[in-house]
Amino acid sequence: MKLKSQINNAIKDAFDKAGIDHEPMSVSEATKPEFGDYQFNGAMALAKKLGKNPREIANDIIDHLELGKVVTKAEVAGPGFINLWLNPLWIASQCETAHSDERLGVGKHENPIKVVVDYSGPNMAKQMHVGHLRSTIIGDTLANLLTFLGDEVIRQNHIGDWGTQFGMLIAYLEETGTDGSVCLRDLEQFYKDAKKRFDEDENFANKAREYVVKIQSGDIHCLNLWQKFIDISLGHCEDVYSKLCVKLTRDDVKAESFYNEDLPQVIEDLVKQDLLKESDGAQCVFLEGEEIPVIVQKGDGGYLYATTDLAALRYRANVLGAKRISYVVDARQAGHFKQVFKVAKESGFVPKDVRLEHVAFGTMMDKSGRPFKTRDGGTVKLIDLLDEAVVKAKEAIKERENYSSKEIEEIAHIVGIGAVKYADLSINRESNYIFDWDKMLSFEGNTSLYMQYAYARIQSIFRRFDGKIKGDILIGDMLEHRLAVMLLRFEDVLRRAAEDAAPNQITTYLYELVTLFMRFYEQNPILKEGVDEATKMSRLQLADLTAKTIKQGLELLGIQVVDRL
Ligand code: ARG
Repeated sequence: MKLKSQINNAIKDAFDKAGIDHEPMSVSEATKPEFGDYQFNGAMALAKKLGKNPREIANDIIDHLELGKVVTKAEVAGPGFINLWLNPLWIASQCETAHSDERLGVGKHENPIKVVVDYSGPNMAKQMHVGHLRSTIIGDTLANLLTFLGDEVIRQNHIGDWGTQFGMLIAYLEETGTDGSVCLRDLEQFYKDAKKRFDEDENFANKAREYVVKIQSGDIHCLNLWQKFIDISLGHCEDVYSKLCVKLTRDDVKAESFYNEDLPQVIEDLVKQDLLKESDGAQCVFLEGEEIPVIVQKGDGGYLYATTDLAALRYRANVLGAKRISYVVDARQAGHFKQVFKVAKESGFVPKDVRLEHVAFGTMMDKSGRPFKTRDGGTVKLIDLLDEAVVKAKEAIKERENYSSKEIEEIAHIVGIGAVKYADLSINRESNYIFDWDKMLSFEGNTSLYMQYAYARIQSIFRRFDGKIKGDILIGDMLEHRLAVMLLRFEDVLRRAAEDAAPNQITTYLYELVTLFMRFYEQNPILKEGVDEATKMSRLQLADLTAKTIKQGLELLGIQVVDRL
């Protein structure tokens, strides 16, 4: 349920009754328990506007606030804050409703839209490396989240499958013959070997150049070789996706080459709009306030990354019908996206009301603050990193329970991959991020293990309780009250995270929820002797709703839970 809007409505009613004519202002979560559950901080701004004393205004609002169903108590504090306490009976009944609902009471968007999420986008010439990890993980979460909230999400994997280096690669693939697919097992090496041939042998280099022209002019033999190369390369990526439990499939691939045919048309349409200027032989769009123009066609007729993105933008807006298009791409491409978005709007390729956003993220660093590399300075292959995560996870959990060897494999996979994903998703995406095995595989702190452990702990309560939950949720003390309010905030958190494309808002919430639950559980025993039946039933329901919320939250992040940990 949308908890905040319930409270905002109460405030709005009070505004109306008090004759305060002002656009809606929103309450926020109280930062300390003594400030109540929610706080209204708008009186200060109102006071300035109306030339009155803020405390007076706050009192006026309180005098007209209907206390009872939702809010039971309101108090003016400090310079004019209003602290609000929610009605325990009401939150209890709302938690019961959430508990009996498979969506945990989370509603869907009133006006769902089509959203394109562009993520992962690896380059086919090379093996996926850690740089693609963040895009893949953040993008998949955003797509999961928007889908859960009812939008129609179209996942788009804009793979780099076109460019001059493919001439070299397919020339080498042909040269190595049937062994090609074997060599391709290690793309990085394949690329290096091909490059070596290119640099050392003039005949080979010429052949590679010839192949570029041939692929571009649609030569069947070359295109077949190219297709073979792309298939194998994409297969590598799919291994990574499946290890990562990421939902991208082949159907989501719309490669750069898909837009090739439209590129001459893009140029023609820009000419029609009178947006193109020649500069040093290249076709450019000069944008107001930008020093560097957007180059859309080189002097030799070749097209660029930006040209393809313009074609993709109009395809997504006009053919796919997207109203929001989110690009989950490295922050270093910010300039590129700012420019192509502007050109797309100015040229009318994309209607004005379509929301275009660059969901930017920072660089992955090692513990010493340098970009993440192998010991000898090479790029770390994603697949190796994920395998290492599973090995390390096994170490971290093996002593905890009496697992069978099959179980430990399964759980280590869930825990290891979960740790890598959670660590990435839990920081503000725009910051650079420090990759630290010890921190991410800890049972303490804001980690996936902490959440998975809390979930498993609740499951162990239910293993010991063999009955049927019945009866009401009763809010008995402050901790139960806070836990219940926290549980009801789930929908607000998800909506905000979807709006801001910020998965870390979900992890922050889960961390607060679990921390609160742990305290609640320490102080409020559930199955211990002496706990009366009604209290036991109520606490079981709160615990179960907590577990379900953790599970749902993690699922949106693409992380699984386990029953024993
Ligand atoms: N292949 C690109 C890269 O690795 C990312 C593609 C992002 N998507 C896009 N529509 N430009 O940098």
